Amino acid sequence: METRTPLIAGNWKMYKTAAEARETAAQLVNLVTDADGADIMIAPAFTALESVFMVISGSRVSMGAQDLFWEKEGAYTGQISAEMLVAAGCQYVIIGHSERRQYFGETDDTVNKKIGAAIEAGLKPVVCVGETEHERESGQTFSVLDKQVKMGLKGYFVEDLSDLVIAYEPVWAIGTGKTATEEQAQEVHHYIRSLIEDLYGNAFSESMRILYGGSVKPANISALMAMADIDGALVGGASLDSESFSRIVHFKIKK
Ligand code: PGA
Repeated sequence: METRTPLIAGNWKMYKTAAEARETAAQLVNLVTDADGADIMIAPAFTALESVFMVISGSRVSMGAQDLFWEKEGAYTGQISAEMLVAAGCQYVIIGHSERRQYFGETDDTVNKKIGAAIEAGLKPVVCVGETEHERESGQTFSVLDKQVKMGLKGYFVEDLSDLVIAYEPVWAIGTGKTATEEQAQEVHHYIRSLIEDLYGNAFSESMRILYGGSVKPANISALMAMADIDGALVGGASLDSESFSRIVHFKIKK
């Protein structure tokens, strides 16, 4: 089986001013100098990208943005393009986070356009999918994921998607302290990988990273990472503190 380098990503959401973000990022850089088992990414707010980049540049930590707009430029007040993110030092961009779907009208169609813009600019898209509590309870988990994955990736070919990362984030587990059990997460990750295999073939599906997100903490990361199809984590709350995020980055497992 293909070995996939784990990716541990921190989504800082709407927390931290530029100065605060820079301080946390600088602490993190020092704490993870020895962590060579995983790729590490942090996604600060747009206003903190430049100041964070100054302290992570040349370190083990990469930077991502939390969203982008699909047009290259134009009269789109308040929006940020892929090219602007690249110029600010981003290598990754989170797309379709459930909070964006819930509060800001993100749909599978806008996710689809954003993936194209990210790829074209050379950003690695971290595409978020996940079911709500109601959808899980009514037995729709797999059909919801099927639709989110297929519509999100519609029209792209395997050669476009070499940097694609998918993050499975059950909406009911985000910021709630209710983590999916590692078996629940593994079941869904395996399902997503088989969907990708149907769409793009076995070699690609075996090489693509699927992250788990939703109340990941230092205490549960190792059990999650021990699962065959869990290739990393997208961490919200526990990534805001450099010590706790570093403990997550230093997870210990034997697959
Ligand atoms: P959480 O957030 O770790 O605070 O649950 C995860 C996310 O929203 O990416």
